[in-house]
Amino acid sequence: MAIKHEITDGLNEEYYQITPDILGSFHKYRPPLDIFVLDESVARVSPYYRKGGRLTAEQVEELPDLANEGVVFVSRDDHPVYVKHISYQLDLVLVDKNLKETEIADIFVQALTRRTEELFEQPVPAVFDKFWRDLMVLTEYLSQDIHRSRALVRRLHREHSQPNHAVNCGFTGLALYGKLQVQDFEARRIVRKNFDRLAAGLFLHDIGMSKVPAFILSKEKPLTGDERSKINQHPNLGFQMLTKLDLKYPEVEACVAEHHERVNGSGYPQKKKGDAISFHGRLCGLVDSFCAMVTKRPYGEGKEFVAAASELRNNPGYDETMAGALQMLLMNDMKMKP
Ligand SMILES: [Fe+2]
Ligand SMILES: [Fe+2]
Repeated sequence: MAIKHEITDGLNEEYYQITPDILGSFHKYRPPLDIFVLDESVARVSPYYRKGGRLTAEQVEELPDLANEGVVFVSRDDHPVYVKHISYQLDLVLVDKNLKETEIADIFVQALTRRTEELFEQPVPAVFDKFWRDLMVLTEYLSQDIHRSRALVRRLHREHSQPNHAVNCGFTGLALYGKLQVQDFEARRIVRKNFDRLAAGLFLHDIGMSKVPAFILSKEKPLTGDERSKINQHPNLGFQMLTKLDLKYPEVEACVAEHHERVNGSGYPQKKKGDAISFHGRLCGLVDSFCAMVTKRPYGEGKEFVAAASELRNNPGYDETMAGALQMLLMNDMKMKP
């Protein structure tokens, strides 16, 4: 057994060890990637199945036992195929002990971006349920160790689209929440359902945009007054949609309804001021602006993360403590250059 561990430790750089759970998630006869099996007598892996082929009935029977023994592998060269595969069955990231934190972050980016795209196209309960299931895998993963959120923030999308923006806000908002509540996370005092609902609010804060005509959103010329007021209704439109999605929770409502309010009263739709804007509303507002600044737009390149955060810190529209924490998160914790 000790010898096997020594061998597999060395192999981990080049191969993923496949657990029975992961193996069971592949197509039974036609797995989407090459499979290797460790031959302990020569301490080497040898090809067992080539992608595009077909496993024999005997192999199909034998493989789960081999996986149980810990001798089934796939190549890390197949990383893109593997990431894509797991992203369709996201709960596997919680059981696969062989994935690195950075690989898991890639999988979350892919899975949640796809789910968010589907949801913005069709914001109905059946699509929402699938999104919610994957979102719960993310919150479970982060509540085990909130510092894992940094690998997600390093992977923010730099191209703008509504789903990309939603994912960016989700990742950044959860990381910032983790920074602000780090002691509670470390003492395991975070109430899971509140964390789950905040996650949903951050991802869905602009869900009302799905009700704004597409031609307005894609317009590159300046908007007319009428078009602008259509867009400005999106917090209210989104708020109304929450009933249909069965999401009438204070954390979600605050993100959707208040993310354009500003602490100095310069925001919309209600021109709320200071503490009249809830904690979650202020958090989402800050994160929303940050994410808008760091992505590429038709009118300009995205800003550097730290530069964007310092600009927000000096802007009287935002919660100063939160903006300071965001800047610290990026500069100190993530060691991003100013
Ligand atoms: Fe918005
Ligand atoms: Fe937004």
